[in-house]
Amino acid sequence: MTAPIRVSIVGGSGYGGGELLRLLLGHPQVEIAQVTSESHAGDFVHSVHPNLRPTAGRTSLRFTTLAELQPCDVVFLGLPHGEAQRQIERFAALAERIVDLSADFRVRDQAVYERYYGAPHAAPAWVTRFAYGLPEVNRDAIRNTQYVSGVGCNATASLLALLPAARAGLLLADRPIVVDLKVGSSEGGASASAASHHPERAGSVRSFAPTGHRHEAEVRQVLGIGDVFLSVTSIELVRGVLATAHAWVRPGVTDKELWRAYRAAYGSEPFVRIVHDRSGIYRHPEPKLLAGTNLADVGWEVDPATGRLVALAAIDNLGKGAAGTAVQCMNLMLGFDETTGLEFTGLHPV
Ligand SMILES: NC(=O)c1ccc[n+]([C@@H]2O[C@H](COP(=O)([O-])OP(=O)(O)OC[C@H]3O[C@@H](n4cnc5c(N)ncnc54)[C@H](OP(=O)(O)O)[C@@H]3O)[C@@H](O)[C@H]2O)c1
Repeated sequence: MTAPIRVSIVGGSGYGGGELLRLLLGHPQVEIAQVTSESHAGDFVHSVHPNLRPTAGRTSLRFTTLAELQPCDVVFLGLPHGEAQRQIERFAALAERIVDLSADFRVRDQAVYERYYGAPHAAPAWVTRFAYGLPEVNRDAIRNTQYVSGVGCNATASLLALLPAARAGLLLADRPIVVDLKVGSSEGGASASAASHHPERAGSVRSFAPTGHRHEAEVRQVLGIGDVFLSVTSIELVRGVLATAHAWVRPGVTDKELWRAYRAAYGSEPFVRIVHDRSGIYRHPEPKLLAGTNLADVGWEVDPATGRLVALAAIDNLGKGAAGTAVQCMNLMLGFDETTGLEFTGLHPV
């Protein structure tokens, strides 16, 4: 039996870090080396992530500080935007492989990056060293790199909804695409704010980013289409994203052709399921069913009279939208079976 891979999680007290920890603790080929948090250094990880309270015979992990980080095989970064780029040289000196959950190394065009993120990049030379970490579009590059950039959760859902139709050439090139995203509160991370205070957040349908959402940059980059617009609305949900993309297909494109395109794209994908049923309660993708999984459910409906395509994708923002895909990428980088540690299929009813 080969020795386990030693993995550390930086920013382990956050929601993304906690989900990584949950998945990696169950990964048969991984040993957790260190988990960092500045504000909880010295505390047991289960004091922050109560679902990870150890059972008899399992050691209790404690948070360490960033300054105490030791060399390891893989480091996962779950830091707020901007931190990874500032410290990338240090992380690269500590670990041969890095998976970064943040947006720091996703956008290649520096002018576009500055426009969406409002400041110049602190380490632009590092951006092209990172592979964009969506296995469904970039599997070979991920297998052959040391550095993977996580994908925006809203970008993941938008891309998985649209890619098959776009790649099959079914979309009208001269019509804009609008993706309406309904998202849960955990997208905002673990830090509280006035906007996340329960009386303000509970029951809200809040237009969070009607225009200008940052993930728009990476969706355009991957699709290679300039006229794609994202609108993000926070709804009453803890985990989950539903992308509803409105696009126009070429005249005469039928449901059958869309089936062919989506099946060709996802027929052999281990974590993408086509949900396009004629009857039943869950005829379309529904994020509620995906909590805790690395699954993306993708569907569509086309109106033949107008050519309007409504492409849909549901994910758990912390699963397929963050930690799940990050672990999938680690599996690819290390030559493990891609699905290792990610087999959970969700709960029903929930
Ligand atoms: N939430 C999502 O759905 C989601 C999805 C995809 C990608 N992402 C991305 O993943 C990253 C983490 O997101 P999250 O939701 O997990 O955020 P979070 O819950 O706010 O967690 C951030 C983590 O970073 C640590 N941290 C904050 N400032 C730090 C600093 N200056 N130096 C060192 N550590 C610091 C925090 O711990 P201490 O304060 O205890 O040190 C905490 O562990 C972000 O870049 C986010 O954009 C998030």
